[in-house]
Amino acid sequence: MKIPAFKLERYFARYEFNVKYVLCASDCESFSIQDILALEPGALDKFHRHWLGYTESQGSPSLQRQISTLYKNIEPAQVLVHTGAEEAIFLFMHAVLDAADHVIVHWPCYQSLFEVARSIGCQVTLWNAREENGWSLDLDELQQNIRPNTKTVIVNTPHNPTGYLMPPEPFQEITRICRDKGIILFSDEVYRESEYRQEDRLPAACDLGEHTVSLGVMSKTYGLAGLRIGWIATRNADIYQRVAALKDYTTICNSAPSEFLAALALRHRQKLVERNLGIIADNLAVLDAFFARHADRFTWQRPKAGAIGFSRLLGGDVVNFCETLLESAGVLLLPGTLYDDSGNHFRIGFGRKNLPEAMAKLEKFLGD
Ligand SMILES: Cc1ncc(COP(=O)(O)O)c(C=O)c1O
Repeated sequence: MKIPAFKLERYFARYEFNVKYVLCASDCESFSIQDILALEPGALDKFHRHWLGYTESQGSPSLQRQISTLYKNIEPAQVLVHTGAEEAIFLFMHAVLDAADHVIVHWPCYQSLFEVARSIGCQVTLWNAREENGWSLDLDELQQNIRPNTKTVIVNTPHNPTGYLMPPEPFQEITRICRDKGIILFSDEVYRESEYRQEDRLPAACDLGEHTVSLGVMSKTYGLAGLRIGWIATRNADIYQRVAALKDYTTICNSAPSEFLAALALRHRQKLVERNLGIIADNLAVLDAFFARHADRFTWQRPKAGAIGFSRLLGGDVVNFCETLLESAGVLLLPGTLYDDSGNHFRIGFGRKNLPEAMAKLEKFLGD
């Protein structure tokens, strides 16, 4: 299989663990194993005794059960656990798509959401989120882009990199269009439950019909990326079986300690979410003030969910800006060019506790 390098992941591989201020992470502040075990009396002892043999390929029953509680109409057996959301994207595309298929992808996006389909040989149409419309998607464009061989539409909301949270009406409409045309809707919902107002949370796509697949993960809202636990939830038995069969060629089953900790964390996820939304709220206050002070240098569209935004640098070249900032202040931003964006944007992440310090470094850099 030939597939181009994943630009964003190569960038993180190079910098993430040797810079002081990662100001572009998409995940929330993490927790220690100790923090997670402290969520429940007796958990430490159970963890010590947890068996390290192979686990159920589809995910341990207790984890499947716990994940199914995130949805309204999903049975535990309709959850297929993976090693991160990334494995699920890869396997879904290989299980479902052929070279003759056409795919429509919400763009800009996390690279694997279009690159894996392209590497299979599919025709891929990029469905542009428009900054001038608050990063929303035009549904007429979707209708125009649909072809007789369109197999899958891929959307991601809350969105990486713009932070866009789709309102319910267009989301329902996309679901309806896909149903009417016999298209599978693959909905990347890895930032779900990070809405700042709970009433803004969208229904999960998997709850809306058998033509849909929802993607979820422990990494983002819950801050537990190191568990490498992601999943798909779908009422489509055919898709489920195909993806499950392909998983035998990648990871077979998931990490037993990670499954234990993920199930435990999900049982108490409100605590994790509350802590992380608190960090986000504090950080947003810092960012709002910063962008107000520097409105002549950056645009700022305040997200309604998640821990990332996509700001535009108004003067100068964004790649050069990010490089110089990193060299002189040790602050890592992510230039939009890593998403093939040509609009001079950069991704800023605000899910980490040390954001105020990083922003102070950035502000000093601007003044120097
Ligand atoms: C939209 C989106 N989907 C999927 C993933 C993959 O998640 P994970 O790294 O936890 O597998 C990411 C990670 O950044 C993402 O932003």
